[in-house]
Order: sequence, then structure tokens, then C-alpha cells
Amino acid sequence: MCADSPARSFSIVRARLFDLPAIRRLERVCFPNDAYDALTLLSLALTPGVLRLKAVANEKLVGFAAGERQPRASVGWIVTIGVLPEFQGRGIGRALLLEIERQMNARCVRLTVRRSNTRAIALYTRCGYRWVTTSRHYYHDGEDGLIMEKELW
Ligand SMILES: CC(C)(COP(=O)(O)OP(=O)(O)OC[C@H]1O[C@@H](n2cnc3c(N)ncnc32)[C@H](O)[C@@H]1OP(=O)(O)O)[C@@H](O)C(=O)NCCC(=O)NCCS
Repeated sequence: MCADSPARSFSIVRARLFDLPAIRRLERVCFPNDAYDALTLLSLALTPGVLRLKAVANEKLVGFAAGERQPRASVGWIVTIGVLPEFQGRGIGRALLLEIERQMNARCVRLTVRRSNTRAIALYTRCGYRWVTTSRHYYHDGEDGLIMEKELW
């Protein structure tokens, strides 16, 4: 277990292979237009060096984040982060983000977010991320992706 507190009603622990079906369900709910397919999620689950964390509440997977740090690079990327809608707004997203940053131990962490995703952008900004560049038409529907970055050390 990597982060837990008696003061909060969820814990953040490593996700395992057996979590894959729940992660897939969560991805579909959190990203109706961009959910990773089963193969991509399987590859994410099996690729060495990918950090996978889940948020658990009531013994159920309610949040998931994955991040990758290139072995020799000091830059880590948040690959995905999501919290089931009925569990959002309770600090779970923030906790997942801070814990994955901590465990990646990278000099800086980057992520891509839809320009219209004001809620996620607010979270990232409050957690210390700043916009660095824009990937034009990054998403399959043509929406731009904002690349945000946080320097950790
Ligand atoms: C983005 C997401 C992961 C945030 O998770 P969360 O558990 O709701 O976030 P938290 O409860 O930790 O809230 C953190 C911040 O999000 C914002 N936020 C949370 N709930 C909110 C709500 N109901 N309305 C508006 N903003 C809200 C606030 O800025 C909050 O800041 P605060 O902690 O200073 O109050 C979640 O909304 C989600 O899964 N969205 C769908 C998937 C997604 O867009 N992922 C990001 C892809 S880049």
C-alpha cells in the first residue's frame, strides 16, 4: 500500500493485472470518446516501467492512474487518470496525481489534456502544472491537446 490515511475513505495502491476489467469499465465511463481499447490497456498493464495506481473505496476500484518514466530520462508522463463520476470531487483525483508523481520520481512530469477539459485543467493547475505547448488536433475528433508540465526538482 503506498498511500493511505485514516482520515480519508479511500486508499491508493498499486493496480494489478486482475484489476484490468474494472480499469476498462472506468476508462469507458471516464472517457466516453477516448477510452483506451482492451489491447492498449493490456499493454499498459504488462509494460515494465509503467506505474499503475488505483484508488479503492468500499473495496471497489473507483480511480486509476498510469504513468511512465523513460528509464534514462528525467521526464515522466501521466498516461491516464480518471475517477468514477460518483466518486469525483472527494480529492481522489488529486491524491492519485500526487502519488503517481511521487512514485515516478522524475524531474518533471507532463501530461496532455483536452483544451475543453476545464475540470482536469483546474486540478492540474492547482497541483502546480503549467501549460507548455499545444498539440494541434491531438484528439481523434480534432480537439487540441494542451501539454502541461510540473517541475518536481
Ligand atoms: C479530472 C478528474 C480525474 C479529477 O478527479 P476528482 O477526484 O474529481 O478530483 P478531486 O476531487 O481531487 O478535485 C481536485 C480538483 O478538481 C476540481 N473539481 C473537483 N470536483 C469538482 C466539481 N464537482 N466541479 C468542478 N471542479 C471540481 C477542483 O478544481 C478540485 O480542486 P480542489 O481540490 O482545490 O477543490 C476527474 O474529474 C475525472 O476522472 N474526469 C474524467 C476523466 C478525465 O477527464 N481525466 C483527465 C484526463 S487529462
